[in-house]
Amino acid sequence: MTAELAGRTALVTGATSGIGKAAALKLAEYGATVLVHGRDTARGTAVVDQIEQAGGKSRFVGADLSNPDEVAQLAAEVGPVDILVNNAGSSWFGPSSELTVATYDRLFDGNVRSAYLLTAALAPEMARNGGGTIINVGSMVGRVGLSGGAAYSATKAALEAMTRSWAVEYGADHVRVNVVAPGPVYTDGSVPERTTALGNTTLLNRAAQPEEIAETIAFLASPRADYITGATIAVDGGRTAV
Ligand SMILES: NC(=O)c1ccc[n+]([C@@H]2O[C@H](COP(=O)([O-])OP(=O)(O)OC[C@H]3O[C@@H](n4cnc5c(N)ncnc54)[C@H](OP(=O)(O)O)[C@@H]3O)[C@@H](O)[C@H]2O)c1
Repeated sequence: MTAELAGRTALVTGATSGIGKAAALKLAEYGATVLVHGRDTARGTAVVDQIEQAGGKSRFVGADLSNPDEVAQLAAEVGPVDILVNNAGSSWFGPSSELTVATYDRLFDGNVRSAYLLTAALAPEMARNGGGTIINVGSMVGRVGLSGGAAYSATKAALEAMTRSWAVEYGADHVRVNVVAPGPVYTDGSVPERTTALGNTTLLNRAAQPEEIAETIAFLASPRADYITGATIAVDGGRTAV
C-alpha cells in the first residue's frame, strides 16, 4: 500500500457499485479520504465499511444526481475536494425509435448535466486551493458506433468535449481534467451476456473487471500523471484502436 494520495480528499460519484466502487477502494488504498457517493445508502455504507476495515478513511454521501438541487446540495455538503471522479451514470440500448423522451432526459441529466454541475461547483475551489484533478468516466461508445446506443454514446461524447474545455479553463490553475473511457466491464449495471459478446470484439478478446478501470482512474488522480490533462485514456482492450 502506497500513500501517494495521503492528505487528499476524493469524491467518487456512483461509488456504491461497479467501476465507481472499485475506484473508491483503490483511491482509499492510495491514502485518500474517500467520499463514497450514490443513492443506495445500504450499498454505500457497505463500501465505506470495506474501506475502513482496510484502514482507510471514508464516509457516504447520498444524492440523486439527475436532480440539480441535489447536485448543489451534494457539492455544499462535501466542501472542497482534491479529486473528483464523475463516474455515476446509466445506459440504454435499443432501437432509437423506442427511446422515450423520459429515458433520453434520464441519460443526459444523469450522465452529462450532473457532471457539468458538479464540476462547475467544485473546480473553482480546487483552483483557489492550488489545484486538483477531475476524472470523468466516459466510454468507448463515445468514439465508436454501437447499434441502439445513439443517445448513450452522445452523453459520453459530450463528457469528452466538456473535459477538453475544462482542461483549458482550469489548466492554468493546476486543475487537470481527463476522461477514462472503458470498454465492456462486468458490473451490476451491465448485462453479462452483452458484456461478454462485446468483450469478444476487443483486441484482447475479453471484457474487463472494474478493478482494471480503477487502476487508470487512480493513476490519473496521482502525481504520476501530473503532465496529463485534456486527454481521453482508452481502457478498452484495444477496441477503439482499430
Ligand atoms: N459497465 C460497463 O461496461 C461500462 C462501460 C463503459 C463505461 N461505463 C460507465 O461507467 C460508469 C459506471 O458504470 P457501472 O457499469 O459501474 O455502473 P453500475 O454498476 O450500474 O453503477 C452505477 C453507479 O452510478 C450511480 N448512479 C447512477 N445514476 C445515478 C443518479 N442519477 N444519481 C446518483 N447516482 C447514480 C449508482 O448509484 P446507486 O446504485 O446507489 O443508485 C451506482 O453507484 C457509468 O458512467 C457508465 O456509463 C460502464
